[in-house]
Parts: sequence; C-alpha cells; structure tokens
Amino acid sequence: MCGIVGGVAQRDVAEILIEGLRRLEYRGYDSAGLAVVHDGEITRLRRLGKVKALAEAAEQCDTSGGTGIAHTRWATHGEPSEANAHPHMSGEKIALVHNGIIENHSALRRQLQSEGYHFSSDTDTEVIAHLVDLELKNSDSLLEATQKAVSQLEGAYGTVVFDKDNADKIVVARSGSPLVIGLGIGENFVASDQLALLPVTRRFIFLEEGDVAEISRRDVKIFDEHGKQVKRDIHESDVHYDAGDKGPYRHYMLKEIHEQPQSINDTLEGRLNDQGVVLQSFGSNAESLLKEVKNIQIVACGTSYHSGLVARYWIEAMCGLPCQVEIASEFRYRQTVVPEDSLLITISQSGETADTLAALRKAKAEGFLASLAICNVAGSSLVRESDMAFLTRAGTEIGVASTKAFTTQLVALAMLVSAVSQVKGSGDCSHLRRDLEHLPALIEQNLKLADSIEALAEEFADKHHALFLGRGDQYPIAMEGALKLKEISYIHAEAYAAGELKHGPLALIDADMPIIVVAPNNELLEKLKSNVEEVRARGGVLYVFADEDAEFESDDTMRVITVPSMNNWLSPIVYTLPLQLLSYYVAIIKGTDVDQPRNLAKSVTVE
Ligand code: AGP
Ligand code: GLU
Repeated sequence: MCGIVGGVAQRDVAEILIEGLRRLEYRGYDSAGLAVVHDGEITRLRRLGKVKALAEAAEQCDTSGGTGIAHTRWATHGEPSEANAHPHMSGEKIALVHNGIIENHSALRRQLQSEGYHFSSDTDTEVIAHLVDLELKNSDSLLEATQKAVSQLEGAYGTVVFDKDNADKIVVARSGSPLVIGLGIGENFVASDQLALLPVTRRFIFLEEGDVAEISRRDVKIFDEHGKQVKRDIHESDVHYDAGDKGPYRHYMLKEIHEQPQSINDTLEGRLNDQGVVLQSFGSNAESLLKEVKNIQIVACGTSYHSGLVARYWIEAMCGLPCQVEIASEFRYRQTVVPEDSLLITISQSGETADTLAALRKAKAEGFLASLAICNVAGSSLVRESDMAFLTRAGTEIGVASTKAFTTQLVALAMLVSAVSQVKGSGDCSHLRRDLEHLPALIEQNLKLADSIEALAEEFADKHHALFLGRGDQYPIAMEGALKLKEISYIHAEAYAAGELKHGPLALIDADMPIIVVAPNNELLEKLKSNVEEVRARGGVLYVFADEDAEFESDDTMRVITVPSMNNWLSPIVYTLPLQLLSYYVAIIKGTDVDQPRNLAKSVTVE
C-alpha cells in the first residue's frame, strides 16, 4: 500500500524512480527496491529500511536502463526483509511491483508450486509475478498475460510488470489501489501518486477500477475491466510538491502544525460571501442537492473520523438534521438502513483510503440521495467518484500523524453547516462567517503555547498510559489528542467522554496515569468540573487545557494551561492545537521517528 513508480524512457530511469520513491517516503514503509532492464538483463536492487540505503546501493553499481519499476513496501504478508521487498521476479524474466493484498494468494501459491514455480519470498505479491510468467507461455503479449493473471486475483492491487525480453513496454493494472499514468514527451511513467512524477510531467491519466494499460515510450493503451480498449481523460495537474523543505522546523509534523493558520485561511479563501458560504464550493449542483437533504451519514477513518464526530454535534444542533458517523471499515460490511434523502459524506485527507472508498462504493448501491467527499487531494479516487466534493487546502501533508488536514476538515465541515443552514433557512448564518474569519488569527495565538507545552511534555516522558477527557463536541477532540499521542510517542492513551469515567475507567486512576482535560468555557463546563473533582479525589494528576475564564487553578495535582479561545462553536478546532503540540513534544523527548512512526503508513490503501 505504499509506493510504486515505473517508467519507459530513452534516458536511464533509475534516478527518476528513486526520486519518485523519495517523494512517497512520507507514507511510511519498511523497505525499498527497484529493477531496471538494459540489453536484455535485469538489474534488481532491494534494501531493508530507507530509500536512502537503496539510493546509496544504486550509486555503487550500474543501473542503466530506460525501462524500470520501483517500490516502497509496507509489509502485509511476510516480515519486512530484503527477500520480501519488491520488485519480485519470476525467474530472470519477469519483474513486478505491487501495492495491496492478494487474498487468494495461498491457493494460487499451491497451484503455481504444482506447476514447478519456486518461491523466494513470503509475500502474497510473488504469486502475481509467477502467474504472469505462466500466462505468458500461452499469450501473444505481456498485456494479454497480465489481463489473464489479474482476472484470477482476489483482493486489491495496483501492479506494474515488465518482461526483460520485450522491455520497451511496461504493463500496469489497477483494482483497489490507485495508479496514475504520467505522460511525458517520448517517455511515459506510472506511479501510485502523482506527487512522485511531478519532476517529469504534469499531465496525468488516472486509471479506473479494473483498468489494465500497456505503456511504451510513445503510446499508452488502456483497457477497461471487460478488456475493451478505452480512452481516459488527460488531466493537467496543479498540485504543488512543497515537501522538500522543512524550513526552520525539525520535523514535517511541527512545520505542518505551524502551517495551520495559513491552511485554514487558504481553505476559506474565496468561499465566504455575504450570505455565509459560497455554495458552489461544494460542487456546481450543491444548492439543489443540499436543499433535499433530510439526513446525513458520515463515514471516515482515524483522524478524519474524529472530524466527522465533531460535525455530528454541529449538524444536529445547528442544522436540525439527524446525523450518524461511522468508521468506514465497519460501515462497509454492515447491513445498513438508509433513511430517505440521506447525504453520504466521506472525509479523507488522501482520498485513497481503501475502507472509505469501499464505503462510498457500497453506499452507491444503497439509495443515498448523493455523496459528498471532503478531501485534501484533488483528483483522488474519492473526489472523482463522489457527486460533490469540497477540497480542503491544507497543502501536502507529509507527517504520518495528521494535523493540518484535520483542522481544515473541521473548517470544511463548519462551512457545510453554514451552507446547509443557508439553503434550509434554518437560522442566521452571519455569525458563522464572522467566527470562521477570526479563526486563523486565533490559531496563530495558540501556537504561542508551544514553549510552555514543551516544558510540560517532560512530565509525560516516563509514563506508559494517559487518559484524555472531554465533553460534548470536545469529546472527539480528546479522542484525536489520544490518537496523536499513541501514534507518535507510543504511549498508550485513551479518550473518554468525561461523564463516562465513573462507569469504569475511574478504576485506572493513580498518580502514574496523567489525565488530560479539554475544558472550554461552554454549557458543559460545570459538569466537566465535577468529573475533574472525581479524578482529584482519587489521586489523579491532571493537565487541564482551559479557557481563561473557566476558573481552574493550578496546584499540586492540577496543571492549568490557558488556551486563547473564543467561547463559541469553533472551539474544538482551537483546542486541537495544544494537544497536537503536546504529543509532538512528548515524542521528541522519547526520541521516536515523529514523521514516520513505526508500523504506520500515511495512505492506507489496503483494508
Ligand atoms: C492520522 O494521524 C492517521 N495517521 C490516520 O488515522 C488517518 O487519519 C486515517 O488513516 C485516514 O486517512 P485519510 O484521511 O487519508 O482517509
Ligand atoms: N502485500 C504486499 C506485501 O506484503 C504489498 C505490500 C504493499 O502494498 O506495500 O509485500
């Protein structure tokens, strides 16, 4: 599910492929490899660990060749090791890379072994290489052999293959894992993400589900899932790769935390007007569709799911519409009842998350009125397959732990609340606009908390567990705070709705379990204060992020950090900032790999 880059050119491609892999590095991976072909000979290099190690190995040997494929692997089947790294080969003839999971790999492996194939890895991927080789024996071309091979696969794949004896072509196939073809002049490329190919082209064809394509230097032939040759649109990309430079920041995550005033500003830019929100920001048909909506179902994963949870509080309170929120991996396999005139909203930074995409596809068959994607990547599968889309403008997010994508999602959802209120006439929206406009400056002020939070982080470094508490629309912010701490500091953290503590988790409280509380001065503050007292009475140590006028006082068992807030419905966005900073500084003290935490990948394109 990590990265694929491939190319057919007159010039040597190894360096282009390695640069492409570097640009996909932020997704998290465990090994990297490449294969190029020159004069009928394949050179394959694979390394456990970083792309840098692969690049160093490539400098030590001859990697000439105009046709090549490269890969960063995020192991699903077989441990991270050089033998399991891609490309995989069948004999000395076929080289292949793959993102995804082949679910029927065991049966195929047995079948291929009985045909005499020898396996040199524990991966599910290797079966595809041998299957292509087997089918090639009874086919006229690599294209035909690949079509026959992929028709036997169950699961998800984005795959690229070449045959050393016909090395002027590569063949690619997509089902469940994204692939994009980059069109050059007298050379063509393929990758799992357009970011990888921006140094060589800005003209892209996004392959659709079931497509198989044959790519040569001067030609691209695409066949759909029925084997029929098709034409797909060419898109001119305006995506910017701004990841190259961390600027003055030690990590991308810190840079991205500090970019939030700008990314929120960018997300609002040109989308507010005197009525509130420019409805067209959600798509040309948004006004008529939103008018019809009587119910909202939100589906997402991880951090994006948390933004959906906040939105539920807003939508039910301010639009008066029922709203359900569900994790995509559950929603996709559940029999669901769809109330009349329901809008499906998917939320995703990448727009390629396998579970979220599958949920959207499932929903299409279930009679939803329409689908809306809230997404940070134009041209992603989620955006292309939805009826409406709202693009957050967070810019490329490199840190695996999502920060600016989350707060811009919340801004998008706040704008949706405003848009729905507008079309339904469910209230005066003018204050919504004012509140949104003040947000970037407020976030800027909150970033000034960084130094005091850095000092506070020392107290967490030797802890093994932490609890996050919030109430109402701050409960999902507590969940997001706990997720951030888990992801990058590896400290076990859980979030509870503060009122739920006495139903069990209170048993965990002792001096070794820091309790982090998000406490804006809202209608639930007094209730929250009672929950805080319940913790103090049992010897818990508290860290309370609170509005100035919330009247908490620091003492031996409670540290209060004042959060510049505005006491209104957007405070979940504001309170996200100090929790992001806390997890960042705790991770720094613990010395973890902040931008690429262990075991995680940025874009989860497998289930
Ligand atoms: C965020 O910090 C996580 N790494 C992860 O939970 C992420 O939010 C999730 O995988 C969903 O990704 P998406 O927004 O690209 O769909
Ligand atoms: N399932 C394959 C493997 O484990 C591909 C993993 C990936 O998508 O990186 O090798």
